[in-house]
Order: sequence, then C-alpha cells, then structure tokens
Amino acid sequence: MVLSKQHLVSFSITFLLCFNLVNSQILGPILSPLIPLIPDLLNFLDQRLAIVFPIIQAFKNTITSDPLGITSTWDGPDICNYTGFYCDNPPDNLTAITVASIDFNGFQLSAPSLDDFIDQLPDMAVFHANSNNFKGTISPKIASLKYLYELDLSNNLLSGTFPTSILNMPTLSFLDIRYNLFTGTVPQQIFTQTYLDVIFLNNNNFLQTLPNNLGQTTASYITFANNKFTGPIPPSIGKASSTLVEVLLLNNQLTGCLPYEIGFLNNLELFDAGGNFLTGPIPLSFGCLKKVEQLNLARNMLYGQVPEVVCALGNLANLSLSYNYFNRVGPLCKKLIRSGVLHVSKNCIFDLPDQRSMQECVKFFASPRTCPHSGSFNVTPCQVATRGKPGNKRNLLSYSALERNRVVL
Ligand SMILES: *[C@@H]1O[C@H](CO)[C@@H](O)[C@H](O)[C@H]1NC(C)=O
Ligand SMILES: *[C@@H]1O[C@H](CO)[C@@H](O)[C@H](O)[C@H]1NC(C)=O
Ligand SMILES: *[C@@H]1O[C@H](CO)[C@@H](O)[C@H](O)[C@H]1NC(C)=O
Repeated sequence: MVLSKQHLVSFSITFLLCFNLVNSQILGPILSPLIPLIPDLLNFLDQRLAIVFPIIQAFKNTITSDPLGITSTWDGPDICNYTGFYCDNPPDNLTAITVASIDFNGFQLSAPSLDDFIDQLPDMAVFHANSNNFKGTISPKIASLKYLYELDLSNNLLSGTFPTSILNMPTLSFLDIRYNLFTGTVPQQIFTQTYLDVIFLNNNNFLQTLPNNLGQTTASYITFANNKFTGPIPPSIGKASSTLVEVLLLNNQLTGCLPYEIGFLNNLELFDAGGNFLTGPIPLSFGCLKKVEQLNLARNMLYGQVPEVVCALGNLANLSLSYNYFNRVGPLCKKLIRSGVLHVSKNCIFDLPDQRSMQECVKFFASPRTCPHSGSFNVTPCQVATRGKPGNKRNLLSYSALERNRVVL
C-alpha cells in the first residue's frame, strides 16, 4: 500500500516535471496558474513528506471549524513547519525525514472523522489531540502504525466501542481516550495483549463488570472513573503489585467488598474508589499500602472500624471515608481526624460531629451484611509500620485526568 503510493507520487512528480517542460515551452501562457505548484512539489524535504502531503490536505478539507486558524499554516511543501506537525528521522532510515509526531492539543478543530488521516501517517510515533471536536469511530487501520506509542484522543466527541485495534499495537504505551462518548465493553485483552503503561478511559460510557483479569495489566496508571462499570473490584488486582501506582475507579456502579489483595500493591500511591456501592469493612491488608498518599473510599456503603493500621500509614495525606457507615475509630485515626488527613463526616461514629442520624444507621445495620472470604479481612500480609514523618510527596498524575485538559506527564 505504502509502496504503491510512493510509486504514484514519483510518477506524478515525474509527470509534472515533463509537463512543466512542455507547459513553459509550449503552453506557458495558457496554463500559467499551474506553474507555482510545480516547484512546491519538487521542494519536499523527503519522499516520505511528499507521500503524506495529499493525506494532510485531504484531512484539511474535512475540517469544518478552525477557530484558531491553525490549518492556514498547512500549506505548501514545508510540512515540518505546519502548526501541530513535527518531523524526525524514522527508525527504519535515519537519513530520511518524516512526520513523527502530531500535537493538536487545544486546537478546537472540528472534523467528522480521523479515519484516513491518522492511520495513513505510517511513521507517526505520537498523536495528541486533546480538546478538539473530532467525531466518528477509531479506524481498525490504526493498527498499521508500527511506531505509535502515545495516542491521546481525550476530550473529543469520538464514539463507538473500545478501539480493539490497539490490541494489535505492541508499541503503544500511552492510551488516553477519556472524555469521549465511547460505550460498550473494555476487552480483557487490554490487560494481556498490550504493553500499556497508561490507560486513561475515564468519562466515557463504558458499561460492564471490570475485566476480572485486571491484575494482569502492565500499566502503572489506570483511570476507569466516571463510567458505568459494575460488579466487584477483581481480586486479581493484587497481581499487579510491582506495577500499579495510581488507580481511579471513582463514580461507577461497583458493588461487593474490597478485596484483601489490594493490600499487595506495594507501589500504590493513589487509590480512589469513591462514589460506588462498595460494602464491607476495609481489609487490614490496606495497612500494607506503604506508599499510599491518597486513599478515597468516600460515598460507599463501607462499615466497621476504620483500621488503625491504615491510619498508621506513613505517607497518607488524605484518607477520605465520608458518607459511609463506619462506626468506630481508634486513637491513631482520631489523631488523623484532628490533623485534617482523615475525613469521616456522615458515618455512624456517634462520638464525632456531623454523622448520619441514628435512624439511618439502625436501618442500615438491620439487614445482615457479610463479605465472601471474611477471614481475609483480618490478615495483614506485611509488617505494619508506625506513622512517622511522611516521605517526599510526588505529584500524582491521574487526578489531573479527571479534568478535561491534557495531562502533563
Ligand atoms: C515557518 O512558519 C512560520 C509561520 O508559520 C514562518 O514565519 C516561517 O517563515 C516558516 N519557515 C519556513 C522555513 O518556511
Ligand atoms: C533513506 O532515506 C533517504 C532520504 O529519503 C533516501 O535517499 C534513501 O534512499 C533511503 N534509504 C533506504 C535504504 O531506503
Ligand atoms: C481529600 O480527598 C477527597 C476525595 O478525593 C477530596 O474531595 C478532598 O478535597 C481531599 N481533601 C484534601 C484536603 O486534599
């Protein structure tokens, strides 16, 4: 396919060259408006740029709105100077020059589709298009981009199902499709068949249970927040103990009890499952989350004692448990309430202010509540620390994914 296009372009350059000769010598006065096109065609820095030139121009013609006047720079043979386009030497020929990356972040362009554009830029390694108005679905042809490692389509109007073609892209490391209109299910293979480091899917309409092989992921950052995921948090999550750093599951429809296996996540710094229908106590294994800074389980149906081993975690900066049914806190946790780290308003802890009404709590505890593997809730699979001085804070990344704008890595 690429080869035939190459031929086509060489052919048309040759053709126009001959034509120019004929044109200027014989037909000059009649066809003179054509003449300025010809030096342009000959001025491409590289054959690879000549190949993508008609593709970019065809895409430019589909753009229905360009309030910032970006596409007015997409003119002539100097593609490497078009606003949003960046050139580099492709890995397969270090003397060639090609379109290696595109950054349309914040350009506010509208187009009915990205098909036949991004999938036709064969050397592209990075495509960023945060905050535009691109519509349509993602073409399966995108799998032909053999160097693509960052795909950011966030905050657009893309629809359809999860782009399963990315499962055939072993180079892809960063997938950001948050703030779109994707629906349906997320395939299990996203955790087994890809080498993704970042999976940002928040603020779409994905609806299904969380894939139960979640723990097979290679990713460090996962945001499934603000969708319609149902069912329990899969216990397999504990298998990702060496990789998972930030997990955002907030504002879905998750049910069931917190799996004990979350406590295996040694590198976890941020875990947010607020705004779901999770129930049961907090497993004591959470006392092993030595690196955790932000732990948000607010607005669920959790109950029992807030574990002292969790309040002892050295790096905890925000433990948010408001709007649950917790009914006891020990001395360490009380200390954290006083220091503004632990938030427990609207629970059932009657010696504290701002709790639920007695009736609400009685009603909640009137129905019998149990969790599967209830024995596991009292197991602490590590030596628990005592809260000392917090370690050095790093900047958490995933919370900025909950905003529409681009995430700065
Ligand atoms: C690149 O584009 C800018 C404005 O978009 C222009 O001023 C400059 O001359 C261009 N450079 C080349 C080499 O064409
Ligand atoms: C590499 O690219 C240069 C510049 O386009 C070209 O002249 C050369 O033929 C290419 N080499 C190979 C092996 O394709
Ligand atoms: C703590 O986390 C909760 C839930 O994410 C958030 O609403 C609150 O603003 C945070 N508080 C502080 C002081 O960071």
